[in-house]
Amino acid sequence: MIHYFSGSGNSRHLAKVLARETGQKLFSLNRFMKNNCNFHKGRTLLDCTTVLPVPTDETEPLIFVHPTYGWRQPRLVTSLLAANAQQLQGRKLYFVATAGSGFGGSEKFLRRLCQDVAAEYMGLATILMPENYTAMFAIPDEAEAEHLIEGGQEKVEEVSRAISSGQLIKPDPDLCKFPFLLSSVINPLFYSFFVRSSAFYADDKCDSCRVCELICPLNNIKMKINKNGNLRPQWNDNCTHCMACINHCPTKAIEYGRASRGKRRYYI
Ligand SMILES: Cc1cc2nc3c(=O)[nH]c(=O)nc-3n(C[C@H](O)[C@H](O)[C@H](O)COP(=O)(O)O)c2cc1C
Ligand code: SF4
Ligand code: SF4
Repeated sequence: MIHYFSGSGNSRHLAKVLARETGQKLFSLNRFMKNNCNFHKGRTLLDCTTVLPVPTDETEPLIFVHPTYGWRQPRLVTSLLAANAQQLQGRKLYFVATAGSGFGGSEKFLRRLCQDVAAEYMGLATILMPENYTAMFAIPDEAEAEHLIEGGQEKVEEVSRAISSGQLIKPDPDLCKFPFLLSSVINPLFYSFFVRSSAFYADDKCDSCRVCELICPLNNIKMKINKNGNLRPQWNDNCTHCMACINHCPTKAIEYGRASRGKRRYYI
């Protein structure tokens, strides 16, 4: 079974390729969290009304596909898995992480997570895809993005063969530079100082379509009437910076302070 989390679609796209190649079932963690979980910034376990579905056949591997946030697995995915320790106990877990440039020392934390939930760590595949962090980094142009997506697809086909034959997989060492500095030192600072939703706003291009409210996997956006009598999105503080809202807005009305101005919006 392939569980994926995705803000702008890179991880979902590769999860679909993986499903096609391995014949495994796809499961959206975005939808699961939106419908069943409450995310509270700062809590280590995700609070959900139901458990994560896993196949009844205990020999079937579980594959988690997700982006990289602050050189590690997104914190909310780790929290969701930790909260489902019982479901994961004794299972073989593979991780396929997409990223814009590098993974730092993600692997150490995935091994630790597997140990904590008593699962078997089967490895991490690291795949470069277009950068989607509109609130912080430059977004590649269309041609570069297409080139990266093609490369990612080829790589995930290779990974699929390894998973289908039950092999252990390894991250690309060229993408795992400065593991301690990036994943152990900078990651917690990144969450404390950068992952906030207070800088999001919708400008006059907003036509009240509600796409942002519907797409937010954490139900962090609510439409409200503003002081001019217009229905506009408002962001609460339970945000994980997945960038789904800003990248999917059909009228490109959403900005993140000044950081996103003039940047291409990206989703696949
Ligand atoms: C909050 C956030 C943090 C990110 N941190 C990293 C990072 O540490 N290293 C990296 O290479 N890419 C980073 N990225 C880029 C994404 O991991 C990458 O574009 C990924 O493929 C997006 O996947 P998605 O479209 O499935 O959400 C970050 C993106 C976001 C939104
Ligand atoms: S997606 Fe964009 S246009 Fe639609 S409600 Fe949200 S901000 Fe407004
Ligand atoms: S508010 Fe936007 S960036 Fe934050 S979690 Fe929701 S969709 Fe993602």
